[in-house]
Amino acid sequence: MNFQQKNIPFPVDQMKIINSIVHMQALAIAPEREGRRIAFVPTMGFLHEGHASLLREGRKRGDVLVLSIFVNPIQFGVNEDLDSYPRDMERDFKLADECGVDIVFIPTAAEMYPAGFQTGVSVRDITLPLCGASRPGHFDGVATVITKLFNIVRPDVALFGCKDYQQLAVIRRMTADLNLPVEIVGMPIVREADGLAMSSRNSYLSAAQRQSALCLSRAIKRARELFATGERSVAVLERETRAVIEQESAAAIDYVEFRDGAMLHEQEVADSGTLLALAVKIGQIRLIDNTVFGEAF
Ligand code: PAJ
Repeated sequence: MNFQQKNIPFPVDQMKIINSIVHMQALAIAPEREGRRIAFVPTMGFLHEGHASLLREGRKRGDVLVLSIFVNPIQFGVNEDLDSYPRDMERDFKLADECGVDIVFIPTAAEMYPAGFQTGVSVRDITLPLCGASRPGHFDGVATVITKLFNIVRPDVALFGCKDYQQLAVIRRMTADLNLPVEIVGMPIVREADGLAMSSRNSYLSAAQRQSALCLSRAIKRARELFATGERSVAVLERETRAVIEQESAAAIDYVEFRDGAMLHEQEVADSGTLLALAVKIGQIRLIDNTVFGEAF
């Protein structure tokens, strides 16, 4: 669907909505020639304040701000939520406009992955643990779509959230390894007032599940408290973190891991720079959260 042709109540004349890949590529070439910087925020839509924080920073760092909205089918596993992923384009356009987005790029899956498509980008060791272990193929899907989007949007700078810590690490690695001419910027996790990390998937939570979901940030706070009072044993920190989540009957732990924040190697002794990463299922809804000791919550 071409959203420009729809009668929608926001000032489309100020913000371009682009569906076609060649059109987007053509638009990206002009600023490049004129020496204007393109800042890029890739998303899957259903935007919230976490996405908005990336867009606002992008607005500062670029002359042209591009947002993409694409629910990327190749990063979803067979039993995951591709078909039910939440969507609300009109609300997304409104937030994008408020954040000063110049171009919203919304490709179709048919154009991104036409019949005969058979190329993928695969990043090795850093994709194996954590979410890579629970979601086989997920990071290949992410690396492939981000490479394609970088080639279409041709950004000078691209912004990603630390909420998806491993994803950011994978994209940094891939960008360095493939010499992609893009600066990667990582942005802090934006949380609700009660601590829940913002996520499009929070919209799946019932009121009761929304309460249960607080065990992720509660567990992180507990680990941070212990670290602040001098606890460095990962065995102890892990036991205490798990205990907080296990108190919540609706929660099932996928993983609770302590790894070094750079290479994601396992650690036995925590230090400033250690990543605590969690994935927890509340009913059927899988939520992730993380913190890095020594950095702000
Ligand atoms: P999506 O989940 O829509 O997230 C888009 C960007 O917003 C990611 O960089 C993510 O880390 C960031 N983000 C999400 N919640 C955040 C929060 N609470 N605080 C700060 N940043 C937050 O991540 C994806 O889409 C996709 O995998 C994508 C990179 C677009 C590739 O398809």
